[in-house]
Amino acid sequence: MSTDRSARLGRIRLGGRVPRHVAVIMDGNGRWATARGLPRHAGHREGMKAVRESVKAALAAGVEILTLYAFSTENWKRPKTEIKALMGVLQIYVEKERRALAQQGVEVRVLGETDRLNALSRRAVRRIEETTRGGRELRLNLMISYGGREEIVRAARSLAAEAQEGRLAPESIDASRFAAALFTRDDPDPDLLIRTSGELRISNFMLWQVAYTELYITPVYWPDFTQADFFDAVLDYQHRERRFGTVTTA
Ligand code: IPE
Ligand code: IPE
Ligand code: MG
Repeated sequence: MSTDRSARLGRIRLGGRVPRHVAVIMDGNGRWATARGLPRHAGHREGMKAVRESVKAALAAGVEILTLYAFSTENWKRPKTEIKALMGVLQIYVEKERRALAQQGVEVRVLGETDRLNALSRRAVRRIEETTRGGRELRLNLMISYGGREEIVRAARSLAAEAQEGRLAPESIDASRFAAALFTRDDPDPDLLIRTSGELRISNFMLWQVAYTELYITPVYWPDFTQADFFDAVLDYQHRERRFGTVTTA
């Protein structure tokens, strides 16, 4: 363990409060590659390293849920060759990592409109979920073909259908009933949202769930993101005062 890694981990332990749920907008693969004169897909491939780093860091820090934004609804509008490269990375990641993830006690779930994926990618999704089922150390949500608005629309549609069938009274729909119709129904909202590559936007990520999430933006491109960067985000989080709209008692 490198000294800066263990020093940061020690400070996190002293700081006490660790976010239960960390979400990450993994951004900057294309720029990482372009800056090196490489094709964009080289950046996506290199991004797998940062996924590995983040899983290790989350396990070490004691985070319960790690949610990674891997492919958005809007990313379907990218050139076919790039979509193919991204789906290839998913398949490679699954074959390379699923056993190691299971050994580390990581349970993986893939959330999003996965019926839009091709047969090979859907198979990869099934395999990683099956191999890692029951892992108790960390839950890893991979958000693939995911959009926050689409998720909200889907939830509204399913509640409307239940109401129409007479199984749900419209006046019984409240925030918690609504949240139970989202892909993330089993999870608490993220405490901390990290975005790499410096963009100051949400890009249709977990629109409902981030209502009171603490935001941390770093200029680091995703392929360069390390365990130390993850720990820095957690350390920053430990200094935040979360108010949830109320006043702090003196
Ligand atoms: C993140 O990197 C990966 C996905 C969005 C799928 P990008 O591909 O968005 O890289 P940049 O933002 O163009 O550098
Ligand atoms: C957000 O990154 C989506 C993912 C990280 C999967 P984008 O690169 O697609 O977002 P924009 O286009 O910069 O907003
Ligand atoms: Mg981007």
